[in-house]
Amino acid sequence: MNVYDSERMYELMKPHGYKISQNYEESDLIILNTCHIREKAAEKIYSELGRIAPFKKESNIKGKQLNIVVAGCVAQAEGKEIIRRQPIVDIVVGPQTYHRLPEILNRLSNKQRKIVDTEFPIENKFDELKKNRINKNAVAFLSIQEGCDKFCSFCVVPYTRGAEYSRPVLDIISEAKNLIQQGAKEICLLGQNVNAYHGLYKNRTMSLSELIMEIANLSGVKRIRYMTSHPADMSEDLIAAHGKVDILLPYLHLPVQSGDNNVLEFMNRKYTAESYIKIINRLRNVRKDMAFSSDFIVGFPGETKDAFNNTLNLVKEVNYCQAYSFKYSRRPGTPGSVLKGQVAENIKDERLSKLQSILNEQQLNFNSKFIGKSFDVLLERIGKKDNQLVGKSPYMQAVHVKTKNYKIGDTVKIHILRADKNSLEGKCI
Ligand code: 5AD
Ligand code: SF4
Repeated sequence: MNVYDSERMYELMKPHGYKISQNYEESDLIILNTCHIREKAAEKIYSELGRIAPFKKESNIKGKQLNIVVAGCVAQAEGKEIIRRQPIVDIVVGPQTYHRLPEILNRLSNKQRKIVDTEFPIENKFDELKKNRINKNAVAFLSIQEGCDKFCSFCVVPYTRGAEYSRPVLDIISEAKNLIQQGAKEICLLGQNVNAYHGLYKNRTMSLSELIMEIANLSGVKRIRYMTSHPADMSEDLIAAHGKVDILLPYLHLPVQSGDNNVLEFMNRKYTAESYIKIINRLRNVRKDMAFSSDFIVGFPGETKDAFNNTLNLVKEVNYCQAYSFKYSRRPGTPGSVLKGQVAENIKDERLSKLQSILNEQQLNFNSKFIGKSFDVLLERIGKKDNQLVGKSPYMQAVHVKTKNYKIGDTVKIHILRADKNSLEGKCI
């Protein structure tokens, strides 16, 4: 989502004469688009601002105006506190107000040196953003839903991104067409709780599965995927869509967080380990090669040794192709931060490494199964070696291939020769 928002910020600034710069030294404007999900991510901003400080000083000496913006969810959560902690910051702008950036920059003057805008405005951000995207990538992100009403007890998103909102269908279709015209082959539909999507269409609302079918009908689109989904919103029609829509990839990121029913309840996740497994099985029934990735939190308050073992058991049962796992990070203002039974840091470390060793093994096994087999790869970028291109398999694995005959944006049949945990290598057939 932050990548998408950053692209949108660039689209806003370009008509005002701004270009992307590769370093701080030559920049007139620096935007840090930030993440507040865990403490570590949030703290990184202050160390980066520390690195930027000398450039600001230097530009002041030269009488040049270097403007520093902190955008994103740290901006939303901390507001003017950011400027208090790091006075080099000129503008603080939240995820729902970044469309105002050009106007805010205009307002900066000698009299008004600092502006904080972290409102949840009445105008719709998406209506204010540029209708034409600038995107030459084979894979394009398209935000269809924002915010979240789930209030998982560990999570800051409902507070930083705000209430759940679905964009109208026709706006999404026109953005998708625009992206496809510019060369996008894969559309990744984004939302913090994307499968809660219920966007306006004429006089009714459309579900995510219906929207996927609409996008699948657009000519030129080769692949569709969506993230991130909440298990409680995996409706029957969405599951069925995986069996009906060929170009919907056989890959789903479906965060489970924990495999223990007590912990899931403390987390306010609204499903059980059993109901999660049922969803996985139903998806595998409609599409037998379905691959799953997930997010895990270890050491949530109240997670006992047995509870953690239940997570390991769930992992073994599902058999993931890939996963992200984190130590629980106490986030101010969330219900989880004040729960009894906070878990000691050394126990979190121990559990994280146990969990990761199983997940890593599953990922390597998943990748290794493809040696000697072939599948379609969408080429996305240039590799580090001569004549090497890198693409993604239908299961989101990175695939490296040496070829002079194909270019970025092509879909190529590739025979897999080697595999490691993070990528595959193959040849064109
Ligand atoms: N501590 C650790 N991990 C968290 N996540 C969200 N909030 C926290 C937190 N407080 C993880 C969840 C989520 C992913 C995006 O980040 O696993 O799915
Ligand atoms: Fe956060 Fe996702 Fe839970 Fe929403 S569903 S509160 S975004 S973890």
